Amino acid sequence: MRVYNFAAGPSMLPLEVLESAQRDFLNYNNSGMSVTEMSHRSSYYDDIHKECISLIRELLNVGDNYDVLLLQGGASSQFEATPLNLLKKGRADYIVTGNFSNKAYTAAIKYGDIRLVASSKDANYTYIPKDLDIRSDIDYLHICHNNTIFGTRFTEIPKCSAPIVCDMSSSILSQEINVNDFGVIYAGAQKNLAPAGMTLVIVRRDLITDGLAICPTIMKWKTQSEAESLYNTPPAFTIYMAMLNLRHIKKNGGVKAVQVYNEEKAGLLYAFIDNSTFYTNKVVKEDRSMMNVPFVTPNGELDKKFVSEAATAGLVSLKGHRLAGGMRASIYNAMPREGVVKLINFMTEFEKNNKL
Ligand SMILES: Cc1ncc(COP(=O)(O)O)c(C=O)c1O
Repeated sequence: MRVYNFAAGPSMLPLEVLESAQRDFLNYNNSGMSVTEMSHRSSYYDDIHKECISLIRELLNVGDNYDVLLLQGGASSQFEATPLNLLKKGRADYIVTGNFSNKAYTAAIKYGDIRLVASSKDANYTYIPKDLDIRSDIDYLHICHNNTIFGTRFTEIPKCSAPIVCDMSSSILSQEINVNDFGVIYAGAQKNLAPAGMTLVIVRRDLITDGLAICPTIMKWKTQSEAESLYNTPPAFTIYMAMLNLRHIKKNGGVKAVQVYNEEKAGLLYAFIDNSTFYTNKVVKEDRSMMNVPFVTPNGELDKKFVSEAATAGLVSLKGHRLAGGMRASIYNAMPREGVVKLINFMTEFEKNNKL
């Protein structure tokens, strides 16, 4: 039996995508072999690689002035790659809205004059800071679009004259974006795109330069841009899965349709929590994430009981991150509406049985 998997990543993929991969697993496109076995220099793989990039361009409306790179190393590798590729004046500003943007900030500090513009740590990352004093003479501003652990999201992208570098690991393809608002967008694949193993980097071409002298060859966007993301062996199977998932998104109406569906799912869950006196979501309403919904019951013992009984009912991985506690329902693109409804029904029953 397949469960509703509320994990924050790796997370659910559409059943249709998994079935398609299963059908083709042993013999892809009459090649007589699996994608997991084939040379990344073969024409079979070349078609997959190119289609994946072209679907990303189409679905996110990426202009010709941007390159699309499919890299390894996870989103965390881009915490280092960002300053290594972009620092010229040697200055960058960071907004810290959670654990991952703090990691990005901490990673960058060793490379230059890196300043913390604003942080929401004072309220355990439950809001997005609005009062920003961004320097005018910086190489870039770094933000994290969606805070996976604490469940916040930038609903408006800050105004800044320097390029904005945005970690979209947990929100890529979940809503429409204007790529032109950003200098660089990066995202680990393992939430809305594919299994783990690939990092998407969308970078404005004028920002692809030699970078700092100490930038390792493999971390230079220029290296991979010139080699069309084939400088070394790419994560071929993950890229293949991304291609299938992107085809699925296109067939179902593109990112706009995904956004409408996600708004509906998140709307149902937040409305239920807001109407309840038993469950609480601590995030400032206007800054709520559409992908990750943290919530708590009246006490820690009930939280534990909730997670365990939910798992028995086929609603798994609802335990909150250790930094946030409580529960977290990650409702990425592939979580069906029925999964959210089943969760709400379970929450209703649990409240009835455990009301203090
Ligand atoms: C917003 C965000 N950034 C970065 C990361 C780190 O990604 P990776 O594990 O691919 O390095 C995560 C992982 O969950 C994330 O949610």
